[in-house]
Amino acid sequence: MKSTVKKIMPAKAVRIITGKVPQAKLSLSIKVVEVFSRTKFLSSVYYIFNPEFRRETHSVMKGKLEHLKSFQAETSNYYLLRRNIHRLEKGLLMSPRRDIFGASFILETVKCFNYLKDLYPKDEQITWANDVLTEYFAVTVSQKDRDKAERLFQPLEERETNKKPYQRNGDIELRTSIEDLQVLAQHRRSVRWFRPGKVEQEKIDKAMQVAAQAPTACNRQPYYFKIIQNEELLRKAVDIPMGTKGFSHNINNLAIVIGDLSAYPFERDRHLIYIDSSLAVMSFLFALESQQVSSCVLNWPDIAIKEEEVKKQFNLKDSERVIMFIAFGYPNYDEKVAFSQKKELDRLRTFS
Ligand SMILES: Cc1cc2nc3c(=O)[nH]c(=O)nc-3n(C[C@H](O)[C@H](O)[C@H](O)COP(=O)(O)O)c2cc1C
Repeated sequence: MKSTVKKIMPAKAVRIITGKVPQAKLSLSIKVVEVFSRTKFLSSVYYIFNPEFRRETHSVMKGKLEHLKSFQAETSNYYLLRRNIHRLEKGLLMSPRRDIFGASFILETVKCFNYLKDLYPKDEQITWANDVLTEYFAVTVSQKDRDKAERLFQPLEERETNKKPYQRNGDIELRTSIEDLQVLAQHRRSVRWFRPGKVEQEKIDKAMQVAAQAPTACNRQPYYFKIIQNEELLRKAVDIPMGTKGFSHNINNLAIVIGDLSAYPFERDRHLIYIDSSLAVMSFLFALESQQVSSCVLNWPDIAIKEEEVKKQFNLKDSERVIMFIAFGYPNYDEKVAFSQKKELDRLRTFS
């Protein structure tokens, strides 16, 4: 254990994991942490000298820079378009609806739309943005910026879609009962033993389409999945996360979930890559399992050399962060899964 851990961790962490921390050192550590945790200012002083958060702040800044630069060039990006079109959708579905809304960001939205429309005229996201903007200009009243934006707006010529806010069909018969969902949730366990073979792209894509329906903050969708099935790449990748020891050799399909911090101009949103992608991952896992494909999420601890390795191997941008790895494949039912008792309901939730 010690020798394996030693390769990837600083000596101090090895001593903590192997339980060999001299008492005197432990007392000193507690004292230091106690002092620097007294105020927020002292904590930030501590982290000037402790580099643990540096990689994260660097990625947040690189993302911010990328996002801001796209404004400067009046090029903008899909994150901004999705966010702003979604804000307009929310204005459109308000009940009662206001006569004018979105005036503070309608100009940047239209500029962004015009730019992306020329780049990706066939994208469904463009038809959606087109339809929402068309509806927006149809129902809002005159206002300086709104009118200027309307003059700039270059709608799609052919419109066969109508992707504006709609009323859902309340009579739809949802065939997934709560009992079905309970069976699926109970059956899904982290599987570490797989049969040989690649999962067909069709199944993966179906699961991805389910994952894509997950909610994301302001519909930004700040993540993507790298699916690794090429044998050479796979063998290099499966051992990068630390939690695959003992079973990495039988992983035949791998997904790396990547969060993109260039989706945000503000630091306050830095956690959304983790929240949004995790919501999508859970849908992905259920959708795989419903097609008899099992999975195991693999931890991605924030360790410098691991991050460097994965960045180099998969050409990640500085603003991109690995969220997690997922091993998946056809389960070997001859092998076991952990029972993994879940918390009792009373420990899980409170009602007030
Ligand atoms: C974020 C995260 C990281 C995980 N990392 C690993 C890992 O590195 N290796 C592993 O074997 N299992 C890993 N797991 C699986 C957990 O051990 C497992 O989900 C947990 O014990 C509950 O079991 P269940 O998934 O079968 O319900 C991880 C799960 C999550 C959600």
